[in-house]
Order: sequence, then structure tokens, then C-alpha cells
Amino acid sequence: MTPFFAFSLLALGQVALASQDAFETRCAQFAEKIDIPDVKVNFAQYVPGGTNLSLPDNAPSCGAASQSVTVDLCRVAMAVKTSNSSEITLEAWFPRKYTGRFLSTGNGGLSGCIQYYDLAYTAQLGFATVGANNGHNGTSGEPFYHHPEVLRDFAYRSIHTGVVIGKELTKKFYDEGFNKSYYLGCSTGGRQGWKSVQKYPNDFDGVVAGSPAINFVNLISWSARFYPITGPPSSDTYLTPAEWNVVHNEILRQCDTIDGAKDGLIEDPTLCYPILETLICAPNPSNATGCLTSAQVQTANKVFSPLYGINGTLLYPRMQPGSEDFASTIMYNGEPFPYSKDWFRYVVYNNPIWSGKDFNVKDAAAALAQNPYNIQTWEGDLSSFQKSGGKVLHYHGMQDQLITSEDSKLYYSHVADTMQLPPSQLDDFYRFFTVSGMAHCGGGDGAYGIGQGTATYAGSDPEDNVLMAMVKWVEQGVAPETIRGSKFADGPGTKIEYRRRHCRYPRRNIHVGPGPYTDENSWRCI
Ligand SMILES: *[C@@H]1O[C@H](CO)[C@@H](O)[C@H](O)[C@H]1NC(C)=O
Ligand SMILES: *[C@@H]1O[C@H](CO)[C@@H](O)[C@H](O)[C@H]1NC(C)=O
Ligand SMILES: *[C@@H]1O[C@H](CO)[C@@H](O)[C@H](O)[C@H]1NC(C)=O
Ligand SMILES: *[C@@H]1O[C@H](CO)[C@@H](O)[C@H](O)[C@H]1NC(C)=O
Ligand SMILES: *[C@@H]1O[C@H](CO)[C@@H](O)[C@H](O)[C@H]1NC(C)=O
Ligand SMILES: *[C@@H]1O[C@H](CO)[C@@H](O)[C@H](O)[C@H]1NC(C)=O
Repeated sequence: MTPFFAFSLLALGQVALASQDAFETRCAQFAEKIDIPDVKVNFAQYVPGGTNLSLPDNAPSCGAASQSVTVDLCRVAMAVKTSNSSEITLEAWFPRKYTGRFLSTGNGGLSGCIQYYDLAYTAQLGFATVGANNGHNGTSGEPFYHHPEVLRDFAYRSIHTGVVIGKELTKKFYDEGFNKSYYLGCSTGGRQGWKSVQKYPNDFDGVVAGSPAINFVNLISWSARFYPITGPPSSDTYLTPAEWNVVHNEILRQCDTIDGAKDGLIEDPTLCYPILETLICAPNPSNATGCLTSAQVQTANKVFSPLYGINGTLLYPRMQPGSEDFASTIMYNGEPFPYSKDWFRYVVYNNPIWSGKDFNVKDAAAALAQNPYNIQTWEGDLSSFQKSGGKVLHYHGMQDQLITSEDSKLYYSHVADTMQLPPSQLDDFYRFFTVSGMAHCGGGDGAYGIGQGTATYAGSDPEDNVLMAMVKWVEQGVAPETIRGSKFADGPGTKIEYRRRHCRYPRRNIHVGPGPYTDENSWRCI
């Protein structure tokens, strides 16, 4: 090639760059550059900030036909074979405004759904981010039926595969590669974060794991147990949502001020053991609206009791009091819990007509004996992760209606006992925060806005944002003492009514004044 010819090619290249800038060009050409075994690139597409991205391929049950994207990014969509009989759908989003950080998002429930809202959120914060479909599409557990490799993807392989490939692509896409890698997930996503900490201690420098579905098989059994306790809506043992609200108000009456503030929130539900017999209707009440039958009170007492196994072992702790308004319409609604039903149908018993109506502790034992691919995610020895220099930030809402926060406390103790480390030393790499007024992964009656996603976003300052707090911990060595949540006046992103600093376990929050409960400086972690 003559020097002249090379020069003119260069000039042509510059003309092309003027109409389509270097980032867009890089994105348009990226698909051809990917040559990784088992990876099939479907497309690489430049998405300008401000796009309302249409997602026609997303399974209808995932409930997301579109996603708004706020920053310029390159979207890469792939299919990745994970075995002869399984594959994951994987997306990598590379923002133009990049901070040198890699991140993996997670999933929820038994799904099957790329969390596009988390991809959009973390790309907006400058992370090169990946999200996978966890090995199947949609929210049902049916794809596990007679498909052990699909189940294996769900238990651990989808996230790890996405991380390995995502890191390789990030290095290819950005000349400067990446410096640190992060994980952000809640619920099943929280379990996936813990699975990475336990099984792949080098995958991440920082893991943010919320309301984790760890102790997974027992969680499935615990959730299956509510239907046999409440019965269907026609039975004497059932409580309507309005009756659960009566229970909720009585629980608040007995427990709200244990923390020193009458604010409708229980800072530490483990101190709350309500006596619900106070609600039993007197004979021939003139007004039965504010009281319950003794059968209903027994139902409530059973709901607030732990799940024990056939030999009396604790399988799963009790539902924490305070969540009953939220739980009434999903856990205590007089129908078998769908995820539990699917798990027993398609994983434990291979019986698609198993109804869940007669669930009992023998079923719990069968499920636990199976524990496929160690999906329990309950390893107490985190020393490999600790040695690799990893940090993990665990949080749990104290009004969680789907996964009791007491399971997170149990896990914290399990790690401390197994590693023989007191909290002061666990704090070097593992910090657990209890978030009062947060329901399952968001929502709730209090200051739940801690920035683990768009729906809880109250700013990017590390003080107000668990993900940025993790970045600060990993990159500057400054660990969060507390995490500050915002109470929104009228749902996510609306006016902030007040803020509250949530404590690092095993500390708990008490209101000491002199200001009102809305004053964050009037609280102490003790
Ligand atoms: C994006 O488009 C869908 C329909 O295509 C619409 O339902 C949705 O409201 C739009 N979202 C935004 C943020 O404009
Ligand atoms: C997957 O397929 C390959 C090629 O057909 C075969 O050699 C291999 O044994 C299969 N692996 C499994 C786990 O079935
Ligand atoms: C990684 O960190 C180094 C040192 O702080 C910095 O110079 C470099 O730009 C960073 N790389 C990326 C991809 O951000
Ligand atoms: C999931 O959906 C995508 C998009 O429609 C499809 O390409 C992929 O094959 C599906 N995956 C499975 C495991 O069915
Ligand atoms: C019955 O009690 C409920 C709850 O305590 C109250 O809201 C309602 O007004 C009472 N009804 C009558 C007729 O007194
Ligand atoms: C009791 O059950 C648990 C869970 O099924 C099991 O791990 C444990 O070994 C059992 N203990 C005894 C003494 O049978």
C-alpha cells in the first residue's frame, strides 16, 4: 500500500467520523469484532440518550415492552450457549460517558427477565453494565421442568457467564478496559449477589445484595406455608386485607414506640413480639370491625411463627411484624404462592398438577434434601471473598412482605459464627444495613430511598446511594457507617419528606431527640 493511498483512506475515515462520531462508529462495527465461543451476537445498536427503547422480544410476562434510556450508549444483544440444552440471553450496555467500572445486574423471583430498568439505571451512572435472562424467558418456573441445565443457569451459571463474557466485551469495547467490577441486585438478585460472593469470590470487587432470597429452598417452603395457615377466603381462618390492617394497627400500638418514635415504623422488628389476643372480639360485640375471631388471631400468630422442619430444626425464621398491610394482598391472599407452587411442580416433584393446598413439613424436607446446584446460597465461610479484597453491602427492608428480614439477620450470625469473626471485624468486608420503612426491595412507609434503582433514587451522592457508597468503599477505602434513605412524599422520585440514616447491623436506631422523628440528626445507632 502506498503512503498516499493510506493517507486518503485516513481522510475518508475522518469524513465518516464527522457524520457518525467515533463512539457510534465503534458501536456499529462492534458486532463483527466479537468472536467468543458460544456467543452469538444478535445486534449491536447505538441508542442515543432520550430514547424510549422498544423491547418487542421481551417476554410479555416480564411486563416491560419499553425502557427509557437517558444517556448515549451502545447496546449489544447476544445469545450465549451455556450447555447442550440451555442458553442465556445477554445484553451489554456501554455508555458513552464511562467511569471505568463494570457492573452486573441480577434478576427477580423465578424469572427469566432481563432487568432493563437496572441496565438503564447503572449505565446512566457510568457503568458498563450487563443483564441476562437467567436462562429462560418469562416469570414462570415451568422452563425448569425436566430441564436441569436451565435450572443450573438459574441457580448460579447465568450471572457468572454474563460476568465472564461481559468483562471480556468491556475490555474490547473500551480501549482503557475497566478498573473495578460491581454487582447490584435485590431479591433473587440479592441471592445471586451472595452466590457470587460464596462461589465466585473474584467476580466482583463490590457486591450490593438487597433482601436476598438466600436460604432459598426454605424460603420457598416458608412462602408455601401461608396458604395452609390462612386457608381460602371462604374459611374461618382467613383475614381480609382490612382485617390485616387491624392487626397492623395493633402491632404498631404495641411496638411502634420501642425505638422512641411514634412514626408508624418499627426500627427493629426483632424486639417486637405482639400479643394479638388483645384483638379477640368480646362476645356479642356492638361493632366487630376493629376485632377478630380467635381463629383469625391464631392465623396471625402462626404467620408470625418460624418454620420448623420435621425434626424440629429451624428452617426459616418468622415474618417480621410491620409488613402485614403489604403481605395481605400477596402472601396471605388465600391462594398458594405462585413461586412456591412452581418450584414444587417443576423442580421438586415433577408434577405439574401439584396444587400447594396440602403443603406440609414433609414437602419442606423433600425440597431441602434436593437443594439443586446448592441454590440454598447459605455458605457461612466467606474467607475466599475476604482474601480477594472484595466488599459486600447487604441490606434488607424492615417491612419486607416477601422475604422476612429475619433471614438476613440469621445469615449474618451464620457468617459470624462460621468465620469466628465479631461484627467489628466483619465490618472490614461485610456490612449489613437494616432499612426501616422499606418493603420488598423498595416501597414502604418510611425512608426507603437508598438508590439501589430508579424507583428508590434520591441522588448520586454516596451518602444517599448504596451503589455509589459501594464505589467509594472499593475505590477510596471509605466504608459506609450508615446508609441514608429518603422518605418520598408521594412515591419514588417525588418530594422528599424526610431523611433517615439506617444503621449497620447489629446496631439499631433509636430516636433520642431533641428534634422530631423527621430530623435525621435526632436518631442514634446503638
Ligand atoms: C414508551 O413507549 C411506550 C409505548 O411504545 C409507552 O407505553 C411508554 O409510556 C413510553 N415511555 C415513555 C417514558 O415515554
Ligand atoms: C454436548 O454435545 C457434544 C457434541 O455433540 C457432546 O460431545 C457432549 O458430550 C455433550 N455434552 C453433554 C453434557 O451432553
Ligand atoms: C483506572 O484507574 C487509573 C488510575 O486511577 C486511571 O488512570 C484510569 O483512567 C482508570 N481506567 C479507567 C478505564 O477508568
Ligand atoms: C428468550 O427470548 C429470546 C428473544 O425472543 C429468544 O431469542 C431466546 O431464544 C429465548 N430463550 C429461551 C431460552 O427460550
Ligand atoms: C366500628 O369500629 C371501626 C374501627 O374501630 C370504626 O372505624 C367504625 O366507625 C365503627 N363503626 C361504628 C358503627 O361504630
Ligand atoms: C434435621 O433436619 C435437618 C433439615 O432437614 C437436617 O439437616 C438435619 O440433619 C436433621 N437432624 C437430625 C438430627 O435428623
